Amino acid sequence: MCVSTALITGATAGIGFEFADELASRGIDLVLVARDKARLDTISRELTERYPIAVEILPADLAIREQLDLVANRASQQDIELVVNNAGFGLNESFFEDDVESEQYLLDVLVTAVMRITHAAMPGLIARDLGGVINVSSIACWMTSGTYSATKSWVTTFSESLAMQLRDSKVNVMAVCPGYTRTEFQDRAGMGTESIPDWMWLHAHQVVLDALKDFEKGKCISVPGMQYKVLSLVAQYLPRPIVRKLSVASRR
Ligand SMILES: NC(=O)c1ccc[n+]([C@@H]2O[C@H](COP(=O)([O-])OP(=O)(O)OC[C@H]3O[C@@H](n4cnc5c(N)ncnc54)[C@H](OP(=O)(O)O)[C@@H]3O)[C@@H](O)[C@H]2O)c1
Repeated sequence: MCVSTALITGATAGIGFEFADELASRGIDLVLVARDKARLDTISRELTERYPIAVEILPADLAIREQLDLVANRASQQDIELVVNNAGFGLNESFFEDDVESEQYLLDVLVTAVMRITHAAMPGLIARDLGGVINVSSIACWMTSGTYSATKSWVTTFSESLAMQLRDSKVNVMAVCPGYTRTEFQDRAGMGTESIPDWMWLHAHQVVLDALKDFEKGKCISVPGMQYKVLSLVAQYLPRPIVRKLSVASRR
């Protein structure tokens, strides 16, 4: 990958950490964003010990506008050639039982932060005609499972739309749409995982390898894992009333 510096949100765990580790192994300097500064410090130290790269940390809660503005401002700077909008989390309550501030927090991190960071990075990327933005969406973007899947529908459509507008340039925008991936995501959301069969689980490192391969090919949507390539086609081409029924059934 021909970029020199990447900014990654949610880089302390799961898919974001694997992006950091993989890009570092390819000699790419990093700007790492998450809320937990101690964890960012540890990861920065580990990566610079293992790879000959520079790592900068930027502790920020992406739902707090002043902190998001700092991240967006960093993304707009000359050296950033790849942005990975990955930070995220899930909710385990139904919309009717959850408090509205939790739903708002989800929208702030999964939609507003992605939009503002991408908007800030774009002029520099377009001017230099290289690199791009990888937005971590979800297979849930084709389902109808509350605010979470609605935010991921936005992320996927947004990425496709920008990719089409940039089709004559060397800048790419891509949505990665993983299915169940072994990270801290489910624990943090308090979701039980016992009923999820083994074949449905992806490994975060493989998600990242698949995503980077697809990004280099110039794709605008990446669906890691053969099982999810099939399921995503089913979800996209089944009549919507059936998708809606399946989405309700999968929450039981
Ligand atoms: N795991 C799955 O099954 C799965 C499936 C499809 C899509 N995804 C998507 O993949 C992305 C990464 O999730 P993951 O599975 O890797 O989860 P994870 O292991 O829980 O990691 C989440 C990362 O996001 C950061 N983060 C969370 N809230 C933040 C905030 N308000 N501001 C800044 N950083 C924040 C966390 O660090 P701090 O806590 O230190 O802030 C952490 O680094 C998410 O967008 C998720 O929706 C996950």
